[in-house]
Amino acid sequence: MNLLPGGICIYLSAAICWLTAEVDASWWYMGTLGSQVMCDNIPGLVNKQRQLCRQHPKVMQAIGAGMRDWISECQHQFRNHRWNCNTTAREHNLFGRLLLRSSREVAFMYAISSAGVVHTLARACSRGELDSCSCDPRKTGSSRDARGSFEWGGCSDHVEHAVRFSQGFVDAKERKGRDARALMNLHNNRAGRKAVKRFMTLECKCHGVSGSCSVRTCWLAMADFRRTGDQLRRRYNGAAQVSVNQYGTGFTAAHAHFKRPSGNDLVYLEDSPDYCVWDPESGSMGTGGRVCNRTSRGVDGCEVMCCGRGYDTSRVSRSTKCECKFHWCCAVRCSDCQQQVDVHTCKDQT
Ligand SMILES: *[C@@H]1O[C@H](CO)[C@@H](O)[C@H](O)[C@H]1NC(C)=O
Ligand SMILES: *[C@@H]1O[C@H](CO)[C@@H](O)[C@H](O)[C@H]1NC(C)=O
Repeated sequence: MNLLPGGICIYLSAAICWLTAEVDASWWYMGTLGSQVMCDNIPGLVNKQRQLCRQHPKVMQAIGAGMRDWISECQHQFRNHRWNCNTTAREHNLFGRLLLRSSREVAFMYAISSAGVVHTLARACSRGELDSCSCDPRKTGSSRDARGSFEWGGCSDHVEHAVRFSQGFVDAKERKGRDARALMNLHNNRAGRKAVKRFMTLECKCHGVSGSCSVRTCWLAMADFRRTGDQLRRRYNGAAQVSVNQYGTGFTAAHAHFKRPSGNDLVYLEDSPDYCVWDPESGSMGTGGRVCNRTSRGVDGCEVMCCGRGYDTSRVSRSTKCECKFHWCCAVRCSDCQQQVDVHTCKDQT
């Protein structure tokens, strides 16, 4: 698992900074520090965050553990892209530098991280891992949906609570500044949280004589985080370049013929680097050594991925399942076959 380097602290919200410190310092470290000491030692927290940190050490711990989920979701979404959300930097604070730029990728990072916090918290609440929250207490009694009436039962994810907490904690730093970048971060944080709420679904269990479903108990559940990741990835594709209006209160589209962004859209202020070559100043790791697809014409194709520098091909042997036979009853047994495949990797810049 790749972790964020410490340099991220200064630029990304202090919440995430704290998580970084925490993950770097490993678990036992947290156990040995009282919450007072721990929260006081995290660099970059604003007062409000320090307060929340002291009041809710277990919540902080949960958020820290959930970090790897949204980072790996980010890496999944961008696995075939020149920028691949790779947080293992050759230079320690490369990610920090990336975050200096108000680019589309950074917009995505903020959105998915704040979505991740909501998802993690709501799940921890439902599992009874936190003292401060549990299932949504308002989901009791009976209600109706398109199929008729049902009884609330089971555990509905308390997303409202998770959103409120994440708003209070993650956004606290941005609320202190009212510059363009703070507005951008706030907007994308909010868009991320919305992308979790959007995929709440009603799940039901049927009761009644021989499954007649005359009685249903239902609960409201969050979808798999992949759904949120997919949604934010679409928002990334359609992200709007904006500038701040003359009152400093909102955005106007950077290009006259574009529509104004809605609350679900991601917004960014600056163009991205092309991420072709290693350039610490712009937060680009370059694509040298990245695997590409020789036949694809898309972003994963060698032409695009390698930025015209060409690629090297090596033949590697892969083990695959083959000659699978069905055995009565009921197993499928396969042999291991060795297969030769060509792997193409982008040439480094010279
Ligand atoms: C991420 O970057 C590191 C260091 O440059 C590299 O070793 C690793 O293979 C990269 N991972 C991916 C998934 O690109
Ligand atoms: C490479 O791209 C082609 C065309 O888009 C696709 O059919 C193929 O599955 C890809 N190969 C791999 C290994 O992803």
